[in-house]
Amino acid sequence: MKAATYSASRGVDPFVFAPPLAAVTYPFLLMLFHALVGAPGTAVSGAAVLGATLVLACACAIPALGIVVAWRSRLTPAMRRLAYATVAAPSLYVFLGVVQALVGSPIPDPWVWCALWLAAALWASRGASQDAAPPARPGLGRWRLAHGASAVIVCLYVLFHLGNHLMGLGGPEAHAVVMETGRTVYRARIVEPILVLAFLFQVGSGLYLAWHWSAARHGFLRTFQIASGVFLSIFIVGHMNSVFIYARTYLGIPTDWDFATGAPAGLIHDPWNVRLLPHYALGVFFGLGHLVAGLRVVLEAHGMGRRAANRLWGAGVAGSAVIAVAIIAGMCGLRI
Ligand code: HEM
Repeated sequence: MKAATYSASRGVDPFVFAPPLAAVTYPFLLMLFHALVGAPGTAVSGAAVLGATLVLACACAIPALGIVVAWRSRLTPAMRRLAYATVAAPSLYVFLGVVQALVGSPIPDPWVWCALWLAAALWASRGASQDAAPPARPGLGRWRLAHGASAVIVCLYVLFHLGNHLMGLGGPEAHAVVMETGRTVYRARIVEPILVLAFLFQVGSGLYLAWHWSAARHGFLRTFQIASGVFLSIFIVGHMNSVFIYARTYLGIPTDWDFATGAPAGLIHDPWNVRLLPHYALGVFFGLGHLVAGLRVVLEAHGMGRRAANRLWGAGVAGSAVIAVAIIAGMCGLRI
């Protein structure tokens, strides 16, 4: 099988440590972004806007690096899984910040972050020279089927939810009207627990599948599917922790437009909130991209030609990026 290409005799790829080392820089890129844009009310020069945009692009390139290394490099299963974990760095950093706040940690987030990544890299590199990728396990069919079936429930919510966030382009009032209407359904006493269970099942079954697939190297499309699934698993757990535990239970605040956009400081000028920019943007992008990747597999299995299915995938992923940018632009104040 072409996928399992790692072998001890061929050695370890020099890029093996690139993803975790890039992840270590993530909080410092966000600090640099904040230094360039300043606190709310600061007049930002054109050069600072350009610099901040480049810095944010570098932060978003870290997940891309994780995908490329997981796809191209000869790695042990542990190092490949670490590369996949790097894809989720933006959501892991939000998750870490919320957990730190919940436990009242006095240690700054970047310190904890660096220590965790360095420990993970050391742990994953143990035995790097003798570990060999086992072949991907066959017979995951039932898990794949169950993952696809619960995706239908999850999808209904996600499509509504992202449509709701797109309404932010019309202003907070338009967003609130749609959210209030949606809440009568998804917050209903019978519906909400089913929805939460479906999301948790999606995360658990997705991570189980990703664990098996990530033991070996794959083509780009499957790598993207695994990577987007790993991102989403962390995103969903972190997001539900923020909504249900941190906001609604710990702070006792409504999970509305102001909560989502980090009001009053907003997403851009606040040193903590800036981490929500890549987290939300990639949450939307990978959320939709993962659905499109799954759809491509289903369509191909039902007779669609590979070229047509791949074209559909490309268009879907491009569309996901456009929708992600539109939602974030609305959350940052763009109105149409
Ligand atoms: C721009 C991106 C996103 C933002 C700003 C956002 C924000 C929010 C907010 C404010 C809530 C609370 C809703 C309420 O109180 O009625 C919420 C709930 C939730 N979101 Fe998101 N979300 C985003 C993307 C996503 C994505 C991509 C997913 C899943 C793939 C997701 C899954 C959920 C779930 C499961 C809940 C809990 C629903 C419930 O209350 O029962 N979100 N989100």
